[in-house]
Amino acid sequence: MECATLPTRIPPTRAMPEENDKVLEIEDLRVYFYTDEGEVRAVDGVSFAMERGRIMAVVGESGCGKSVTAYSILRLIQPPGEIKGGRIVFHPKDGEAINITGLKENSEELFNLRGGNISMIFQEPMTALSPVHTVGNQICEAILLHQEVTKEEARQKAIQMLTKVGIPGAKQRIDQYPFEMSGGMRQRVVIAMALVCEPEVLIADEPTTALDVTIQAQIMGLMKGLQNDMGTSTLLITHDLGVVAQMADDVAVMYMGRIVEQGQVRTIMKAPRHPYTMALLKSLPSLAMDKERLPSIKGSVPSLTQLPPGCPFHPRCPYAEPGKCDVGSPPPQESIGDGHTAACVRVHEIETGGINA
Ligand SMILES: Nc1ncnc2c1ncn2[C@@H]1O[C@H](COP(=O)(O)OP(=O)(O)O)[C@@H](O)[C@H]1O
Ligand code: SF4
Ligand SMILES: [Mg+2]
Repeated sequence: MECATLPTRIPPTRAMPEENDKVLEIEDLRVYFYTDEGEVRAVDGVSFAMERGRIMAVVGESGCGKSVTAYSILRLIQPPGEIKGGRIVFHPKDGEAINITGLKENSEELFNLRGGNISMIFQEPMTALSPVHTVGNQICEAILLHQEVTKEEARQKAIQMLTKVGIPGAKQRIDQYPFEMSGGMRQRVVIAMALVCEPEVLIADEPTTALDVTIQAQIMGLMKGLQNDMGTSTLLITHDLGVVAQMADDVAVMYMGRIVEQGQVRTIMKAPRHPYTMALLKSLPSLAMDKERLPSIKGSVPSLTQLPPGCPFHPRCPYAEPGKCDVGSPPPQESIGDGHTAACVRVHEIETGGINA
């Protein structure tokens, strides 16, 4: 298998912070669902840390556990799902670390965290807005829930934020209902609502999937600009490595409930070391030599209730070695240096450029 070449656009990556300044740490997170088909290990031992002020992406095919990871951070997992283990720790800029996994359901701390220090743009943005209230009322409500300001101050703040997200004539449009706006404008409102309380962490779960391509690019550009201005730490969830290349500083690649590779975007785009990341990169339209025939990853994702032994990617991996890759437990993350890790037993054999499959 050939290694992917450099994509056309690699973002100018922010320098790594001098010292490790982590805003969110996830350690060995396990989230299982109990269904008629059995125990579904949607997230099974996920660990990563977000550096303050940077954009970290979580990328992987549909169903690999990205949204479940995101929902766990705000403790939004509902039955039949359950957080079975692990720790999620938030380090506010000022104040003591908060062990989110240890907080009581319905506690004041959890309420303050949601939409206050940590806010989320959901995968289905249109459902995030109420059709029967004006956008202004909805943004003001978010402000009044978390900040001690008057109604008039909240309204002024909402107008400022709507202007910031690029809504022309915000003073008038604040009194419109969502149905009076286009999909792109509504998504700008959702972003305004998520950012108006100046969260330290913004989780954006596939924030543009429902929009057409031109609007997607505009919204992504807007989010990146706001992230720069406000210094928000962003967790960007996407199935699209192209979006990762354009937006993110750091990336964690997920496959079947586990992280298989992580590190800085620059490094991973240039020199991926896990065969799954290599395959994802090869299927990027901007990289495919023949755009008519995009290579897809061979085989289909196995069922989460019937995980194969050994490396979960082995039935689809061109490098899979019988007796080595298809036995025992899934491979642990191995460090390749500079914060770059990959979970593959052949990682030291698979150099950039690739050994022959
Ligand atoms: N409500 C649910 N009931 C049962 N299984 C679920 C539920 N939500 C998620 N899952 C399981 O968790 C897996 C990961 O889901 P999700 O995190 O939403 O994937 P994605 O990476 O596409 O965001 C799914 O493939 C599914 O098996
Ligand atoms: S452990 Fe084996 S099957 Fe898994 S990614 Fe590495 S080479 Fe492929
Ligand atoms: Mg999802």
